[in-house]
Amino acid sequence: MTSAGLTAKRGGPLRGRVRAPGDKSISHRALIFGALATGTTDIEGLLEGDDVLRTAQAMRAFGATVTHLAPGAWRVEGQGGFSEPDDVIDCGNAGTGVRLIMGAAAGFPMAATFTGDASLRGRPMNRVMKPLREMGATFAGRTGGRLPLTLVGGALKRIDYRLPEPSAQVKSAVLLAGLHADGGAGVIEPEATRDHTERMLRAFGAVIHVEDRDGERHIDLPGGQSLTGTKIIVPGDPSSAAFPLVAALITPGSEVTVEGVLLNVLRTGLFTTLQEMGADLVISNLRDEGGEPVGDVTARHSAMRGVDVPASRAPSMIDEYPILAVAAAFADGPTHMRGIGEMRVKESDRIALMAAGLSACGIGVEEEPEGLIVVGAARGNHPAAGGASVVTKGDHRIAMSHLVMGLASNDAVSVDEPGMIATSFPGFVEMMRGLGGALA
Ligand code: S3P
Repeated sequence: MTSAGLTAKRGGPLRGRVRAPGDKSISHRALIFGALATGTTDIEGLLEGDDVLRTAQAMRAFGATVTHLAPGAWRVEGQGGFSEPDDVIDCGNAGTGVRLIMGAAAGFPMAATFTGDASLRGRPMNRVMKPLREMGATFAGRTGGRLPLTLVGGALKRIDYRLPEPSAQVKSAVLLAGLHADGGAGVIEPEATRDHTERMLRAFGAVIHVEDRDGERHIDLPGGQSLTGTKIIVPGDPSSAAFPLVAALITPGSEVTVEGVLLNVLRTGLFTTLQEMGADLVISNLRDEGGEPVGDVTARHSAMRGVDVPASRAPSMIDEYPILAVAAAFADGPTHMRGIGEMRVKESDRIALMAAGLSACGIGVEEEPEGLIVVGAARGNHPAAGGASVVTKGDHRIAMSHLVMGLASNDAVSVDEPGMIATSFPGFVEMMRGLGGALA
C-alpha cells in the first residue's frame, strides 16, 4: 500500500479522553477461535484494521461464516474445523495472522497456500514450520522459510515444544495445532509471553494447564478437545494506546486519558518502564472485562530520565520499543534497551529504522546487534530538533512513532506510506488531531 506522506508539527498541548482501538492480538484470536469452534461467537470491539480484516477474510475462506454486524461487532459461525480453501490465503502485513492460521490449519487433512505483502514475504516462517513439521504437517514453497508456502495438514501428533525465542505467535501456532493433534500439545516457555491464547482457549471451553516450574512456564493442552462458540469482548490495545500517551508525556502542557486499555501484565512493560523514567502515568478504574484486566490510563507531560531496560522485559513490550525510543529521546540521559533482537524481524528491522529516524531528528543513538541506546536530547522542556523525512518501509509502528516525535520537535517530521497505519490503528490521525495534534 502506498500513499502520500504525512507530517507532524509542534503545536499546543494535547488534551482529552479517547478510546484505544481493539487489541490486535485478541482480535485475530477471536476470529480464528470462532471459526474453529462449533456454534456462534459474538465479538464486541474487534479491531477493524487491515491485519485483522485479512484474518476475517481467511476464516471465510476456511469455511466459517463471518458477518460484520455494526462497528466493532462481528459474528462468527464456526464449523468445528477448517475446510480446504479454494484460493491462496493472503494475510497482508500480518505476522500474527499468518502464523496463527497456519497452526490452526495444520490439524486438518487439506492443502492451503499462504502469502502476504512484501514485508510479510520477507519474514521468517521457519519458527512455526519447525514445530508444525515435528507434529506431522508438511510445507512446500520458497526456500528459507519465506512465504508463499503451501501447508499440507492432518494426522498430527503431540509435541512438547520448548520455544527457542520468546514468541506468543509460535506458542499459539503449536497450541492451535494441538487442538487437532493426537495427544494435544505442550509448550515450554523459558520467558512467559502474552497469554491471550491460553485465556481464550478456556473461554471457548477447552481445558489447559499452565504451571511455572524452575523459572519456566509449562503449558499443557490435553488432546481430544473441541471449542464451543462464545462471546468475546476485545479490550483496547495497549500497543496502540502507547502513541497518544507518549505524545502527552513529551508535549508540554498535555493531559490525555485513554480509556479501556488492556492491562494484562504480560503486555504492560512499556507502562512500567515509563513510570521508572519518572512519567506521570496513572491507572484508574481498574476492572475485569471479558476475563482480562482493563483500566483507564492518564498521561501528563513529564520530565523523564533515561533508564536501563532489562532484556527480561522484552516479551511484555516487544511492539512498544519504537515509541519508547521516542520517549527516551525526550528524557534526560541515555536509555539502554537490551535483549531486543526480535525487533529486527518485525514488520521491518525496527532497531535499524528507529536508529536511522531518530538520528535524522538530531537524537544521539547507538545501534547494537540486540539493543538500542537513545541519548535523551532534551533537558526539561526543550524540544528535539526533528526536521526529518522518515522512511518507514511500510511499518505502521515506525510511522506512528515518528509522527509522535514530530508533535514535540522544533521542526516538522514526515513519514512515507502513512496508509499502513491502518494495519493496526485505523483512526490514529483523526484521534491525534482530536487531541490537538498538528498532523497534515
Ligand atoms: C503477537 C506476538 C508478538 C507481537 C505481535 C503480536 C501475538 O510477536 O510482536 O505483534 O499476537 O501473539 P512474536 O510472537 O513474534 O513475539
